[in-house]
This record gives sequence, C-alpha cells and structure tokens, in this order.
Amino acid sequence: MKSRCANLLVEYGGIRIDTILKLGGEGGSLTLIGKKNDDGGWTFFRESQESAMTDVLDEEDQDLLLLLNPRTRMIGCDLELALKSLGRHWKQLRPVEIHPDFRWSMYKLVIESRVSNLYHWKKICLKNNPLYQLAEWISSSKHTVVLSGAGMSTESGLPDFRSRDGWWRNMDPHKVANVTAIEENYELFWGFYKYRIETVEQYSPHIGHHILAKWEKNGWIHGISTQNVDGYHVVAGNHNIVELHGNIRSIRCHYCGRSSDVADFLNRLNCSSCQGPLRPNVVLFGEMLPDNAWNQAFQWFHRAELVLVIGTSLQVAPANQLPCLTSGHTVYMNMEMPEELDPSFDLMIKGKVGQLLAELDEMLDYIHSGKEE
Ligand code: APR
Repeated sequence: MKSRCANLLVEYGGIRIDTILKLGGEGGSLTLIGKKNDDGGWTFFRESQESAMTDVLDEEDQDLLLLLNPRTRMIGCDLELALKSLGRHWKQLRPVEIHPDFRWSMYKLVIESRVSNLYHWKKICLKNNPLYQLAEWISSSKHTVVLSGAGMSTESGLPDFRSRDGWWRNMDPHKVANVTAIEENYELFWGFYKYRIETVEQYSPHIGHHILAKWEKNGWIHGISTQNVDGYHVVAGNHNIVELHGNIRSIRCHYCGRSSDVADFLNRLNCSSCQGPLRPNVVLFGEMLPDNAWNQAFQWFHRAELVLVIGTSLQVAPANQLPCLTSGHTVYMNMEMPEELDPSFDLMIKGKVGQLLAELDEMLDYIHSGKEE
C-alpha cells in the first residue's frame, strides 16, 4: 500500500503517521516521522530516503516493521534522541518541513547544537509559528490585557460551562444561576453553589495561572479581566485583576446586602441581620456586572495594544464585547475554535491553556534573554 502523503500527514491503515522533520540538501535527505500515542505522547521513527513505508505497525510489531522496511527504525519517544539518531549530518542539512507542534521544541534543541544554517531553522521554527509571533507581540506591547474564561481553570479540575463535560451540559443555567432560583428554589440554588464553592476550595491554580502572575510581575501583561469566579488568578499572585462575574467565596445577604462568611452560607444559615437568604457575590443571569469592574475592564481594553483571550467561548455579554474595544492586536487561545467565533482575531491559536502558556513563557524568556539576535 503506497503512502498517500498529504502535507504533513500520512495515513497507514488507520494509524496516523505525521512527518515530524524533513531535512534536505547536497548531503542527502533525512526524515523523522511520528505516531501520536493514546497518552498524547509520540513515538518517533527515522524514515530512510528510499523506504516507501508500505506499512507502520505498533511497537510490539517492530520486528515485522523492520522486516518490511529494514531501513525504517523506531527511535522511541524522546525527541532529542530522535534528532541525535539522525547522526551529525542533520546539522549540515537544511530543514524543509517541521510539524507545527514541534517547531519550538525542535528550535530549543537546535540552538543548543552548532547547526550550519541557523537562519533556515529560525525561519521555519519561529517565523511561521503563530505562538512565536504572539511572544514577539507580547514583548513589544506596552499595554497587554487578558480576558480569561472557564477554560483557564479546567486543568485545575474545575469544569467549564459549555464544553462536553461543562456545567450547562447537565443542567439549565436559568434554573440554578439566576435570581428567580434564590426566591423560588433556594434549596437547588444553595446546593449548586455549595458544591461549586467546595470544589473551588478543593483544587488550586495550575501552571498557567502562575505563568500569568509571573508575566504581570515582569510587566509583560498589565491586567486580567476574568469571567471566572474561582479567584485562582488572585491566589496565583496576580494583583491587577477585574472579576467581571464576581467571586464565589464572597457571600452577602440577597435582601439587605450585608456581607457574611462563606461558612455561614455553607452551613445554610440566613442573614444575621434581616434573616434574608445568603448568596455568593457572583453575577447571576439577568443581573448587571458590578459598575467598577466593568468600567475598569472597559478602560483597559480600550487602551490595550494587545488583547489575549484565553479559555472562553465568548458566548456571554457584555464580557464578550471587550476584545472589540481595542485597536491593537487580538489573539484567541482556546481548545476549541467555535464556529460562531468572530474571525477578526489577528491570531487564533488552538491548544490547551497550560501547554500554550508554558511554551509562550519559554519563548518570552528566550526573547528577553538577548539570545534572540
Ligand atoms: N485549554 C484551552 N481551552 C479550554 C480548556 C483548556 N484546558 N478547557 C476548556 N477550554 C475551552 C472550551 O473549549 C470552551 O470553549 O474554554 C471554553 C470555555 O467556555 P465556557 O464553558 O462557555 O466558559 P466561559 O466562556 O468562561 O463562560 C462565560 O458563562 O455561564 C456563564 O458566568 C458563566 O463566566 C461564565 C460565562
């Protein structure tokens, strides 16, 4: 069965084989191919020039693989070893093709080796890399602001709302997250928010939250407007935060507005002053955003040179209007690219928040290290 090579992807009998790296030049050509594993990792193979790769079988069939393609060798799951398996020739050859997921990790290996044509590696790894483009924008922007959503906290363990396992997939938000619920079905309202408060207290910010706190400290971002009520950006160390939809661990009386302890709410107590029902200080459907929060966010986004929208479906107004306020660059970073998304974003980068921010952070450190001539 001949391989049908389409761009970077080659299908072999249902096993998806991607071209990871293709090198060419006077010295011949070398190719690394890879098979994505169920755990999200990769198994790399060195493909020889003449092999037609009639079939690629699983690791346990490696001997059969070698029989079929004596010159295609499985290298294993380590990219650095896979690169070294190409021998010292790879440093003389010119990169022709690099899988988008490997451009930055490959470039980090390249700058540690003495390759003879760094220019070509830089061009293919960085210049065609939207994440590196974003890193350059962040480095040059004097006023960068972030709009985050529930996708920022799923890797901490908190469900989002509209993904496959999101809150609103299993319950009607207008039954539990609006004022009527407090007045007509307090038991359901209280049970829903008690469970969410306990979940927020059970988990904690992940690496992505801590990276944004580092970027604020370094002056690389200037403010985060979050739709999240979990308070994780503050816990991670950000100070310039606007909680557009409030904070679930702050409690007040629904009638007289008197503040109360979260323990009073969890213990199902009423307001100690007027005996009214207690509720979290979150914006329920049908309620207005706090004036000061909206005004601050409005100013930030209006004067922003760069807006990063991270982990939100942008389904809920008015928060979803904030990116439109800037005349600067806008970047959407999310695991899914919703069809109804406004295509006017300058960059749309698909991926998991934790991984995208970690790679961006390495790129920013590299750019700010001065090694980027
Ligand atoms: N990495 C990247 N994106 C992710 C991740 C992740 N680890 N996890 C989830 N996402 C994406 C989902 O694909 C989804 O598009 O984050 C987005 C979250 O969207 P929603 O669930 O709609 O959450 P959000 O946009 O924050 O909702 C806004 O709606 O119900 C109200 O008040 C609630 O503040 C909330 C508002």
